Amino acid sequence: MLHFETAGESHGECLVATLTGLPAGVPVSVAAVNRELWRRQQGYGRGGRMKIEADTAEIVAGVRHSRTIGAPIAMIIRNRDWANWTEVLPVEAAADSEEKKKALTRPRPGHADLAGGIKYDLHDARYILERASARETAARVALGALAKQYLREFGIEVLSHVIQTGTARLERPVEWAEIAELAARDEITLGSVDAEAEARMRAVVDEAYRTGDTVGGVFEVRAHGVPVGLGSHIAWDRRLDGRLAQAILSIQAVKGVEIGEAEEAAAAFGSKVQDTIHYDKPAREFRRGANKAGGLEGGITNGQEIVVRGLLKPISTLRKPLESVDLETREPALAAYERSDVAVVPAAGVVGEAMVALVVAQAMVEKFGGDSLTEVRRNYDGYIKQVREY
Ligand SMILES: Cc1cc2nc3c(=O)[nH]c(=O)nc-3n(C[C@H](O)[C@H](O)[C@H](O)COP(=O)(O)O)c2cc1C
Repeated sequence: MLHFETAGESHGECLVATLTGLPAGVPVSVAAVNRELWRRQQGYGRGGRMKIEADTAEIVAGVRHSRTIGAPIAMIIRNRDWANWTEVLPVEAAADSEEKKKALTRPRPGHADLAGGIKYDLHDARYILERASARETAARVALGALAKQYLREFGIEVLSHVIQTGTARLERPVEWAEIAELAARDEITLGSVDAEAEARMRAVVDEAYRTGDTVGGVFEVRAHGVPVGLGSHIAWDRRLDGRLAQAILSIQAVKGVEIGEAEEAAAAFGSKVQDTIHYDKPAREFRRGANKAGGLEGGITNGQEIVVRGLLKPISTLRKPLESVDLETREPALAAYERSDVAVVPAAGVVGEAMVALVVAQAMVEKFGGDSLTEVRRNYDGYIKQVREY
């Protein structure tokens, strides 16, 4: 089965990512991984850190001559800022350690600082925030880039766009071709396919900048070209909708998830929300009247695009900090402020793509198995033939 893990602290030496279970023979382009890392770093509203961190991945295991060899893949993404943190976060205790210098003792509401400090019995929230930080998502994006390269072999593409930033929302349907065009651009501001909506989103972010505040929003991830039959209705933990929801909710600051038009459906009559079934006899294919279910019925992909949305809360670190308590004195104090982002919806969307790509790739590996790409392709083609003949 496809299994992945990340390690690394926000200001540590590097992030580490491992992926086990990809078959041998999958083409891997480091440039494609780096392109995804670049996309995660973009966006209007990002903090200063994005300017010093030009992320690049080094693949140190599992890929030879640009193809997977079936062995676990290991990647490293170095933190460019590490040079400034070697004294603050040394691996081994040092007599002249400066560890106290950057101690964080005024926990930020909305962060893992306080709950994590209590749980791990650490009185400097630095050790909590270093891992809770969304810096970790760079490793997930690198892993997702590998999953995307595997999926591409079967004509599956995963991309995202931004639907909402603060109160500014795009209210019209969006075509796959528009999202593909957006992803190919060399400039990413607020991640909307629509210039007018993007201008409204920019005004909201500008207001947050002016007032020392932050904003959240909604991103949408789509998986295009997914075959019918991934995931299963037979057990709760095999339902692909549930697995996608967990993957999206695991992204830092994502507080809600929507599959298809869930919110609209909750307020409508049943006759208006289901995707009617039709059959095209000459093409010998089932067709649907719409895709309000977001490509999933009974936890199984139905052959339509997968549509998953992540609802992102505003960033918790505020330039105008909220009320907190000093962990040392227990006196009221304003929460700590550290250079921080103001709005991150497009970047969160790129992380969402990575998570969706990894979950869909997991479901593909479960369904089609195979130790080599040749074997997977044979299994996949046989299944597609069976579906056509159904
Ligand atoms: C791409 C991305 C960038 C983020 N950047 C920041 C940031 O600069 N400052 C911050 O306080 N939180 C940032 N966050 C959110 C926090 O990591 C997150 O709110 C925190 O770890 C607490 O977890 P929770 O909000 O999921 O409960 C970011 C999230 C994402 C997805």
